Amino acid sequence: MTRFGKNSPIPYHYEPKTPMLKVGKRDVLTLDDCLRGTVILGGTGSGKTSGSARTLAKAYLKAGCGGLVMCAHDAERAQWEELAKETGREGSIIVMDATAARRINFLDYTMATLGAGGFNTNLLDIIKRISEAGDIAEGRSSSGENKFFYDSAFEMLGNVFPILHAVYESIRLREVMSFIDTAPKSPQQLNDPEWTEHSFCAKTLALASQLLDTYPDLEIYCDYWTERFPDMGDRMRSSVIATISSMLYPFMTGKLHELFCTDTNLVPQLAGEGAIIILDLPVHLYGKAGATAQAIFKYLFQRAMEQRERDAGKDFKKSRCVVLWADECQYFLSDQDTKFFSNARRYRTCGVYITQDVKSFYAALGSGNEHAADALLGKFQNRIWHANADHTTNEDASRLIGERLLDQMSKQTSDGFSASGGNTQAEGNNTQSGQDGHNVGSSTTVSQYLARIVPPNFFTNKLRTGTASNKYKVDAVMLKSGHTWRHTRENYVIAAFDQRV
Ligand SMILES: Nc1ncnc2c1ncn2[C@@H]1O[C@H](COP(=O)(O)OP(=O)(O)OP(=O)(O)O)[C@@H](O)[C@H]1O
Ligand SMILES: [Mg+2]
Repeated sequence: MTRFGKNSPIPYHYEPKTPMLKVGKRDVLTLDDCLRGTVILGGTGSGKTSGSARTLAKAYLKAGCGGLVMCAHDAERAQWEELAKETGREGSIIVMDATAARRINFLDYTMATLGAGGFNTNLLDIIKRISEAGDIAEGRSSSGENKFFYDSAFEMLGNVFPILHAVYESIRLREVMSFIDTAPKSPQQLNDPEWTEHSFCAKTLALASQLLDTYPDLEIYCDYWTERFPDMGDRMRSSVIATISSMLYPFMTGKLHELFCTDTNLVPQLAGEGAIIILDLPVHLYGKAGATAQAIFKYLFQRAMEQRERDAGKDFKKSRCVVLWADECQYFLSDQDTKFFSNARRYRTCGVYITQDVKSFYAALGSGNEHAADALLGKFQNRIWHANADHTTNEDASRLIGERLLDQMSKQTSDGFSASGGNTQAEGNNTQSGQDGHNVGSSTTVSQYLARIVPPNFFTNKLRTGTASNKYKVDAVMLKSGHTWRHTRENYVIAAFDQRV
């Protein structure tokens, strides 16, 4: 395994109060704030990437953080390489790209590091991430009949992995497919000598039956193949097998095979030592394969960060922070993210998710899954809103910043005759009354009403979006949950970023 940094450790800040981002003259975003997660939203060309994101990325690099950078565009790698150079961190960059010079065998890695107790679950989780990434990249959702086949496919795989693991101690995807392809298609086939002699499944089940004393749980998995699988209807069985094969086939040959099914010289733990791992397999260039590859590595990264605390012991609070960075994050969302970001501060992982609007979150997680998208968005305690024409996002931002009571004054005047003459009183105001009963008066009433502190249309037309015409300035409204900014004495502040810095 290649060690990172040629034994020269990268210095880093770990104090929670470390200032990361100066906001105006009087406020800062600290390292502890960053650990609570940041989401950046703004319309296309509003200045997310060249404004707030760029400034934040530099702050993470300067603070000595490690990280994982997801890539939607092919420009992402060059941007990080440039920022790393500017901050003296070029030696920290490790790139996983289509050359497959850096790779990880996810089956071996899972067995070696995520093996204890939950091996089967972890491996199934990875396969789920593979299918989820494919869904997101192709804009479909696993619902209805599709979902039924996916669930059945995961159940089938969940009955293969433990048998192969127990019998052969390692798992190869080709063997998974071979086991399923040669499993008994009917109860009669179980007694067919031809099947018993030539089927990989039959041979493996025979070996498994000899291990039942050591692994008594294996009996349940073996029963699936000798009882439930042969009894399955032909149509159902072939649909489930086709679902599995469509998920695993891309890993049998080609780039995904090279990157994830050969040997290992890149592990996500390197981020904890200061490496900035860039997954230069951009979705815009490689489509579903790029999304799948990044989803697998991101999953392994999240699991590795979860385990850091256990491995570091009591000094973990002084360990290096890492950043999980996803510009155009809609390509990389996973239903696992909500769970991960609930505890990311504990794992010393700062999430930075960037996209145009909240609808991108909704669309990525599938229709009907809006509550899941809201739950995920809710895990990011720092919000940075750039100029946007999306009503939902602007309304959301305005609602989160809140309302305050404003005074409204109304003035009424009267001019008329009273039958009886005499005085007319209007509170606190002038009233003149003549003997002829002619009254002239005015009254002012003060009432209060609730108004948005920052109305939704503020985000459409009041924030600068960079370029020479704005003197390269990009504005954003920032909110830090539960915090009052010094400058505004409110929960929001307007921050200006310079595209040339
Ligand atoms: N270094 C720079 N100097 C001047 N203008 C820039 C610079 N970088 C980007 N721009 C311009 O500034 C504007 C904001 O660009 P930026 O890429 O930051 O927007 P964005 O919010 O990330 O958009 P998208 O959602 O399309 O990624 C665009 O008009 C862009 O062409
Ligand atoms: Mg951008």
